[in-house]
Amino acid sequence: FKDNGAVFFIFGATGDLAKRKLFPAFFSLYKEGKLPERFAVIGLARRARTKEQFKADLLQSITEFARYKLNAEDEIWQRFVEHFEYLSLDIHNVEGYKALKDASERLEDKFDIKGNRLFYLALAPELFAGVANNLKLGGLLEGSGWNRLVIEKPFGYDLESAEKLNRQIGEVFREEEIFRIDHYLGKEMVQNIEIIRFANAFFEPLWNNKYIANIQITLSETVGVEERGGYYDHSGAIRDMGQNHMLQMVTMMAMEPPSRLNPEDIRDEKVKVLRSLRIHETAEDVRANVVRGQYTDGVLRGKALPGYRSEDAVSPDSVTETYFGARLYVDNFRWAGVPFYIRTGKRLPVKTTEVVVEFKNMPDNVYLAKRTKLQPNLLVFRVNPLEGIYIKINAKQPGSDSMIIPVAMDFCQSCQVGLNTPEAYERLLYDAARGESTYFTRWDEVSLQWRFVDRIVQAWSKDSRDLNLYPAGSWGPEAMDKLLAEDGFHWWPIN
Ligand code: BG6
Repeated sequence: FKDNGAVFFIFGATGDLAKRKLFPAFFSLYKEGKLPERFAVIGLARRARTKEQFKADLLQSITEFARYKLNAEDEIWQRFVEHFEYLSLDIHNVEGYKALKDASERLEDKFDIKGNRLFYLALAPELFAGVANNLKLGGLLEGSGWNRLVIEKPFGYDLESAEKLNRQIGEVFREEEIFRIDHYLGKEMVQNIEIIRFANAFFEPLWNNKYIANIQITLSETVGVEERGGYYDHSGAIRDMGQNHMLQMVTMMAMEPPSRLNPEDIRDEKVKVLRSLRIHETAEDVRANVVRGQYTDGVLRGKALPGYRSEDAVSPDSVTETYFGARLYVDNFRWAGVPFYIRTGKRLPVKTTEVVVEFKNMPDNVYLAKRTKLQPNLLVFRVNPLEGIYIKINAKQPGSDSMIIPVAMDFCQSCQVGLNTPEAYERLLYDAARGESTYFTRWDEVSLQWRFVDRIVQAWSKDSRDLNLYPAGSWGPEAMDKLLAEDGFHWWPIN
């Protein structure tokens, strides 16, 4: 890619993802010299846009959302925007793809690009298979370089539909050409989990059921469903966040060290975790280990908010969950008996992504017990909004000869002055262009994720009495706290 460049085809170029994430990502990569001059981007959508209108859209998206400041007068902007074109395309009509092929060849000539093509489908998933097929029929895959397909989640609605989609796409692209995005895998601190675990003598020897009591993963959001009620009401939190982002976080925490740091070895280890994930087989198992909730009217930061059922495009008697929590077990030698508690929800009090590793208590020996009740050691990964890790350890309270208190050793990466961390999409776009697939979801991961989720959804569909209502602005159903309490644990407060 660095030497030969590529043409990027952005399907859904007038959509939200392109505007908020993809175009700003291109700009940051360009600014940092990661995009060679041999690149071109073709924005594609049904809507007619003139070149000038498209340039104006781009400028607006970048000035509003990119992490580097930009003015239209900047010389870099003039150079950058030259690489962009827009084409109105009816994605169902193969004729349009022929015109697209001509446009691509023209740009390849203009920028001396050696035939590499990356197709990014920022589209509704039901369109993926049709577009893939039309790319083939339109002759777009006959270039002299590589072809890659980048697709957004959700990949299917359940295992069956995911398998079907995979078969359809598989008729056009090989597995190694398919880059399935899970943008959580592009986050700095999610990638850092691997390094913290495997590059530190402090942690790796303790990373097992002898020393770890439980692991808590929280992906909380303050937003409601916004304008996405139509999609969300059919998806719910388990499909929107659980099947993908949450299970990926579990695999990052639980995987064995790969023998080599290459994409397939890493993904093999992640697949092993998913294979060891205990399936909640029966409706009773599901009720005993999984919690779902839906927000009702409430108050968040002083603002009164409507309940989920009054949101736009949501059915007034919807039983879709906006909160999903569960107790998971990874049934292998390392993790036998260690619960992983996961939770995600909309309209919770704070926006955060955090993983807490709670270590087992030290033996209560006489010397310590006399003094004070010891708190367990914690290792906390902060993924968002702060990035960093901190450790809670026990130490003597200064000035006292009998008190032991928990103290924090904090490494706040995002507090460093001048640090401007790349966004997840930036990294993933760059990786896809380089053919680096580590942080993309392989098909066997997707299918195992669905295998786990399907059983839960099936149990839920038969009986909705376990749907807990929680007021917007609260931490979700108490039933989730009870799950931890059953095991003698509680959620550690989010800092
Ligand atoms: C998306 C979900 O995948 O992730 C959204 O579809 C959610 O519902 C979003 O809001 C959260 O991502 P982030 O990066 O803001 O935590």
